[in-house]
Amino acid sequence: MTTPLNIGIAGLGTVGAGVVRLLNDNAALVTRRAGRVIRVVAVSARDRTRDRGIDLAGADWVDAPEQLAHHTGVDVVVELIGGAEGPAKALAAASIAAKRPFITANKAMLAAHGMALARAAEAASVPLKYEAAVAGGLPVIKGLREGAAANRITQISGILNGTCNYILSTMEATGREFADVLAEAQHLGYAEADPSFDIDGIDAAHKLSILACLAFGTRIDCAAVSTNGIRAVDACDIAQANALGFCIRLIGQAAYDAGGLYQAVRPMLVPLDHPLAHVKGAINAVTVDADPVGQLQFEGPGAGAGPTASAVVADLIDLARGSNGAPFGMPVAALEAAAPADPGARIARSYVRFAVEDKPGVLAEITAAMRDCAVSIETLIQRGEAPGGGVLVVMTTHEGPEGAVARALAQLGQSSALTSPPLVLPILG
Ligand code: HSE
Repeated sequence: MTTPLNIGIAGLGTVGAGVVRLLNDNAALVTRRAGRVIRVVAVSARDRTRDRGIDLAGADWVDAPEQLAHHTGVDVVVELIGGAEGPAKALAAASIAAKRPFITANKAMLAAHGMALARAAEAASVPLKYEAAVAGGLPVIKGLREGAAANRITQISGILNGTCNYILSTMEATGREFADVLAEAQHLGYAEADPSFDIDGIDAAHKLSILACLAFGTRIDCAAVSTNGIRAVDACDIAQANALGFCIRLIGQAAYDAGGLYQAVRPMLVPLDHPLAHVKGAINAVTVDADPVGQLQFEGPGAGAGPTASAVVADLIDLARGSNGAPFGMPVAALEAAAPADPGARIARSYVRFAVEDKPGVLAEITAAMRDCAVSIETLIQRGEAPGGGVLVVMTTHEGPEGAVARALAQLGQSSALTSPPLVLPILG
């Protein structure tokens, strides 16, 4: 009989409890696929008394997560605490130092310390796995690292934050206000403990930086991700975008070419016939342009107990089978240190929303600034009231460098005709 794979879990929140439940519910199937029984032998969580609706009989409770790294009965440490620093990082370092394979769902930690952890894991020949860190249940890490490993990937575009997608698509479908829909997303368990990580685009930036590393063979550089969240998107933008044949989604985009590594997270207008426009609710989706395979799409639930546990247990099954490899698809030393691309050089069409005074010459002033900066206008609509007062003017531009639109708006920044700062949302090509 084969020996069981004994695991220690740090963190028994939604995801931790989901992992225990999944290992229990699908025990026979998981054992057949893994070739070994996978069993939880030790756990660590803040509150021992809380009823989580899971069976932890037989598991040893330890006080500090780090103790799992040195627990004699533990073969694999699973970190589901979260947070880039503190106990999660200490547990990662201790597990690798103790030569215990380490599985994590912690995108913030990988975005900040993934390269250092992978270097340490390689040096110690310890597996480091993280399928659950990006887009929950979507097998996008394995998809890029293994399935598409032979391809040259030119671009990835994705909906990487379920909370933002839930908020934007629900606002679109119901006309409800942002704060109301955010509260609902928190109640449903999609949002991070600090929801600003979701709505300010930080969570999506963490995930994008990890995907870019796998896709392009470049070092993780999360600090270089140009990050804008969805706070500035108003119901009027959603309505105007719809009228023009678009929806609004928070999109993470990365590309790597001679101009450098481009990484951005921001709300964008998505044409209604684009595959990402059909992604509603807390669903995540990633589109990968790869040669020679063509365009790949990954889509599915990106958050919550079941989808995230599905990814964690997939890593456990991999380990039980003995499958191991460089955490980021190649040794850290082989990853390129890519220079960030100039975001202003990115070619796109743009949507611009202005709030202006309704007086003669305002449109002339706006169009003159566009002319001066060589921005070609595609549509220009004056319609209704702008949020916060003034008249709403909405413009879309023809394709051109994004920096030119930024220069035109900087020129208009001095204008007394604008009653509030304009909002620019690029259009997904
Ligand atoms: N808060 C994340 C989201 C879920 O809304 O997508 C876990 O990454």
